[in-house]
Amino acid sequence: MTNIKNFHKFIKKNLKDRSFYIVTNREPYIHTKTSTGIKVSKTAGGVHTLLDLVAQASNAVYIAQGSGNADKYVVNKHNMVAMPPITKTYFLKRVFLSKKELENFYYGFSNQTLWPLSHAVFVKPEFNAVWWSYYQQVNQKFVNAILEELDHKPAFVWVNDYHLALVPKMLRDSGKDIKIGTFWHIPWPTFEIFRVNPWAKEILTGLLGSDFIGFHRGYHAQNFFQCVQRMIEAQVELDQSQITYKEHATKVEPLAAGIDYQEILEIKQDAKITLKKNLNKELGVNIKYLAVGVDRLDYTKGLLERFKMIDRFLEKYPQFQEKFIYYGIMPFSRTHIPAYRTYAKTVTDLCDKINWKYSKNDWTPIHITTESLPRNKVITYYKNADVCLVTPLDDGLNLVAKEYVLSCEEKKGMIVLSKFAGAANDLRHSLLINPYNIEQGADAINQALTISEQEKRDRNIKMRKELKEKNIYQWATTFIEKTLYE
Ligand code: G6P
Repeated sequence: MTNIKNFHKFIKKNLKDRSFYIVTNREPYIHTKTSTGIKVSKTAGGVHTLLDLVAQASNAVYIAQGSGNADKYVVNKHNMVAMPPITKTYFLKRVFLSKKELENFYYGFSNQTLWPLSHAVFVKPEFNAVWWSYYQQVNQKFVNAILEELDHKPAFVWVNDYHLALVPKMLRDSGKDIKIGTFWHIPWPTFEIFRVNPWAKEILTGLLGSDFIGFHRGYHAQNFFQCVQRMIEAQVELDQSQITYKEHATKVEPLAAGIDYQEILEIKQDAKITLKKNLNKELGVNIKYLAVGVDRLDYTKGLLERFKMIDRFLEKYPQFQEKFIYYGIMPFSRTHIPAYRTYAKTVTDLCDKINWKYSKNDWTPIHITTESLPRNKVITYYKNADVCLVTPLDDGLNLVAKEYVLSCEEKKGMIVLSKFAGAANDLRHSLLINPYNIEQGADAINQALTISEQEKRDRNIKMRKELKEKNIYQWATTFIEKTLYE
């Protein structure tokens, strides 16, 4: 198994004198003002959790947008601060955006154009020339932040996700000796969808500045090839997984991200299994079955469909009434975007409706919090839960799914997983569903709660084997190898 130690050695041996940069929009730690002074905290889980681990193991410089209200007070004159707070193994360099840049680059082009365009969820992307011009401007700002740090040494830059699609070309155009690997964490749409974007060609040629582009799923990579083949004059060699554009070759391959196997096992070891007892006491109920879900409040996550499944499950299998609760951790996300605000309201309204329909004595089936909880608490929920519901309508990967399978009790926990999540490929032994099929979802919840301990154990053990092998360090090693050598 590749672990942090091997990864560290791999970096030393292979990057040699190349300095290592990771560039992404979301920062792993933020500083905020509190009544007792400035507080530092980890930003809630996601891709940046993985990148934080990669940076810690490799001493990379992590370049990201400064988003905390006290971020600017703790950085040095290069906008840098040593992170993580205690071990301080790498530098976080913050890029500060103006309100206008944030509105147009993050809330606009990234999350109202590229995000809905890339996810097959029937939310219409919006195309706005001002957003696009800010997207270009902010991508250049990230590139400048990297170039500021480059001395005359060669470099390796890991570009992360859809916020920074133009960065690879901009870096290549700088003429410096830089190896560029890009990971696109969200789905890549089909040609028929992608082509409606007025700036589709610029996004493609921006990305083709990379030496390697990784996607989580094979069909995301295939869609990308199709788009290139049909939209720009490039040489596409499918058998080599390679595209040559203006004499520069880019490898494009699927490479699903893994999780930190060891870290999760360690947190899990300390997690107590008394949660149900505590909830019963706190809520004055007597539940036997606990379901959990952990998602940003985002319309791609299939939350309405999930709550409809719970409704149907309680209706079809009434023996679970008063014995089952669903605990949802679903922090607000991107709240300045109207589609997100409307979605959050529709979801909470539906929960209220279902709770009213079934409420009996002190029991209601759905309990939600819109705050994000610290990692060890989330893992405690996973460990205690009999079932985890992961029901996205479309999703690049979904780390929650992988983390739950490893964190649950192997004879007790079972995952119900949308087959449209990238993670479904590695978690083939979960209870796979089509999230639009409410009846199937309701039956899967029942199945998760009623199959034998032996069957749960068998399924979980098979999935954990994959998670152990294809862990985060294995993923990062392969990503870097492909960027350097292929
Ligand atoms: C997805 C994206 C990430 C992003 C995360 C959280 O997983 O692939 O790049 O960071 O959502 O979204 P946010 O807008 O809060 O960064």
